[in-house]
Amino acid sequence: MSESNTSATVHPSEKISGTLTVPGDKSISHRIAMLSGIAHGESEIRGFLRGEDCECTLNAMAQLGAEVEYGDEVIRVVGTGGVLHSPSEPIYMGNSGTGIRLISGLLAGYGVKAVLTGDASLSGRPMRRVSDPLNEMGAELEVTGEKGTPPITLQGGKVRAINYTLPMASAQVKSCVLLAGLCAEGLTTVVEPQPTRDHTERLFIQAGIPLHINGLEIELHGFGHAGPQIEGRSWQVPGDFSSASFWIVATAMRPGQTLTVHNLGLNHRRTALLNVMERMGAQITVDIDPDTSEGEPLGTLTVVGAALSGTEVFEDEVPNLIDELPLVAVAGAIASGKTEIRNAHELRVKETDRITSMVENLRAASVEVEEHEDGMSITGGAKPVQVGPIQSFGDHRMAMSMAVLAQCAESPLTIDGIDCIKTSYPTFWDDLKQLGGRIS
Ligand code: S3P
Repeated sequence: MSESNTSATVHPSEKISGTLTVPGDKSISHRIAMLSGIAHGESEIRGFLRGEDCECTLNAMAQLGAEVEYGDEVIRVVGTGGVLHSPSEPIYMGNSGTGIRLISGLLAGYGVKAVLTGDASLSGRPMRRVSDPLNEMGAELEVTGEKGTPPITLQGGKVRAINYTLPMASAQVKSCVLLAGLCAEGLTTVVEPQPTRDHTERLFIQAGIPLHINGLEIELHGFGHAGPQIEGRSWQVPGDFSSASFWIVATAMRPGQTLTVHNLGLNHRRTALLNVMERMGAQITVDIDPDTSEGEPLGTLTVVGAALSGTEVFEDEVPNLIDELPLVAVAGAIASGKTEIRNAHELRVKETDRITSMVENLRAASVEVEEHEDGMSITGGAKPVQVGPIQSFGDHRMAMSMAVLAQCAESPLTIDGIDCIKTSYPTFWDDLKQLGGRIS
């Protein structure tokens, strides 16, 4: 998406408050697209995120032989029953690290021959983290980009079960190995260094694929080359906590304002931002719907804003707010005192290097910030004023985080390269306006 140079001028707002629902969860939408694509018969998906990232994954499943019908409310997928074609054309995964890393595992397991490509940002992201375990499983898969980056070329063949200790806390790598393990003979074991989002595990269980989870160790009995025989079903995707986070932080920064988000995914491995915002002074209430515990916890969240104070993000919180760390930096810029984000090396390999690009953007908004190899320290309290170019760097979360910062700025901030927002949150600007924000 880095080709884009459309810009928006975002005005400081009097209020960011109200009630809303946000679009469906991106991580869950990717995974449901894949599970529906390998199922027998028809699945109906409600709440699927209609952003470019997840549409790439659905299109990929169509290229592999699934039938996909896009409706306004429901997406219908007639699955391949585990018989996946090897497509003659490359499979384009757009901007999506989750899409390419997870589908690599799925296709390696099914022995599909394919080439996986992506846009300029994805073509610069590290893929050895998935090729290493997949090669260890016996997959004939090669990362053909210059620096261990896409394209990824799969030559078919079978995979065997492995016992894999993840070198980094990554739900994408964990999920890749589990998806490949579906078609292995024997027991695939994945051990995580820290808990990461567990959507794959929950969805496998919901789809009828048994797993044994013991702390940080996940065991999956593979089904052999034909893969698991799962049936199409009806899926409901909860609202995306990471999308709601923009409004959670925007409201939390405004003393006395209130935001309520309904139908929101509240899986505790995604919601560490709430602990951080509470420490900074916001009041947060979470009400989990009692009948949703089987799949993903779902419910209503209310935030009441406050004059925030700086905080330190703890190491064990990092994987559970990895996508919200740019927003913690934004909250830190408004809060009084210092906010410390450390142990977050992984930010350097997201859609952009989110440490360097956030530091640059905060400085362009006259915020005092120090860059560290694994994070940043922000000294907040002054009203941001634009003194240099503020850019998305082709990164949707960077663009949206800076739009949140603009809410509390002294004067409007102009953000360049906002097109990328459509990868994950196509209705972002509508929701900003609905809550009281203003752009030109
Ligand atoms: C995701 C996992 C995280 C996250 C990404 C989505 C997933 O990446 O940053 O936006 O759906 O599994 P890592 O697993 O690489 O940390």
